[in-house]
Amino acid sequence: MLKNFWYVACTTADLHDKPLARVICNEPVVIYRQATGQPAILRNVCPHRQAPLSMGSVRGNVIRCVYHGMEFDARGQCVHIPSQDVIPPRAHIRSFPAAERYGLIWIWPGDPQLADEALLPKLPWREQPEWNSEIIQYFHVKGEARLMNDNLLDLSHVAFLHANSIGFDSNRLDDDPLQVTVDGDTVSTQRVFKNTVQAPAHKAWRELKEPIDRTQQAQWHPPGVVNVLARNENEEDCVDLRADHFITPETDGTHHYFVAMSRNFRIDDAELTRKLDEGARKVHMEDVEIAEAQQSMRPWTGSTPDMALKADKAVTAAHRIVQRLETAEAQAFIGHGDVPLGGRPRIPVSARSEVSGNAQNGAPAK
Ligand code: FES
Ligand SMILES: [Fe+2]
Repeated sequence: MLKNFWYVACTTADLHDKPLARVICNEPVVIYRQATGQPAILRNVCPHRQAPLSMGSVRGNVIRCVYHGMEFDARGQCVHIPSQDVIPPRAHIRSFPAAERYGLIWIWPGDPQLADEALLPKLPWREQPEWNSEIIQYFHVKGEARLMNDNLLDLSHVAFLHANSIGFDSNRLDDDPLQVTVDGDTVSTQRVFKNTVQAPAHKAWRELKEPIDRTQQAQWHPPGVVNVLARNENEEDCVDLRADHFITPETDGTHHYFVAMSRNFRIDDAELTRKLDEGARKVHMEDVEIAEAQQSMRPWTGSTPDMALKADKAVTAAHRIVQRLETAEAQAFIGHGDVPLGGRPRIPVSARSEVSGNAQNGAPAK
């Protein structure tokens, strides 16, 4: 499991006045908002009697354990022990680098020295006024994170699994071939359906005069960010719907799945936002259900390797990248508990920006 990356921990909306408990990359964490407004993420275990700190309360910038009242700041340092003046060195818990961007709270589960907000994914459309970016969905998935990554790296499934909503005629898969490009650690897929009709859901959101060209594009960034763009266009109009997917491992067999949607049409239409949220949730639940069904077969399938098809070119490329990054992280791990002391070489920020720029200009999704 890759650790030296930013993962989405929760949404901004999830963080109220109460602390939030979550397991991320096999680590129990508590997430809370300090009085300064900054998010804080600590290991969710009080060093005194191992009570979950998430049962406690936030007081200013510190979190107070519900059991005997020890208080910890955002660095995990104990700052108060009731009826005791001396704070022993062990009164400290691990803290994790945290960031807030795009309506999401991010965690860096690996080496804190490598955490750099410049490495957060670049999603400029989520901050531009010509887009409505209100919808963020969350799903808890009883299936390993890889299953959802694989799902999004092979969007041919849209023709079948989502046939009744955003699907398309599966015969087109032969006529409109998939283009796959690998650029550094980024894998991109694109399929353009020329002279076609709108999917039922797309038509309901914004009907265009047919025939249209439909572009389906995805950019995958390790370990679990997939920017998908669905574009419907004719000579007069061009309608983009983006779905940015964030896959965060919970345990080896479960994950947290977030989808943030942005659209550049009918952006002030609150009723459309509601319907789009409802419709997209149904589509994403189909993905969740298939991932959970695949996971449920594990007792029988064990380590049987998947069978690679032509459509799996992007999946295979992504697996190779993850394997390479995992090897690099493992080699850099010198071994102090969970904290790798070295870490993978950083992905140059310029390379990531370049990729995002491409996505912004062309990119389409499901
Ligand atoms: S268990 Fe937290 S203060 Fe005792
Ligand atoms: Fe899907």
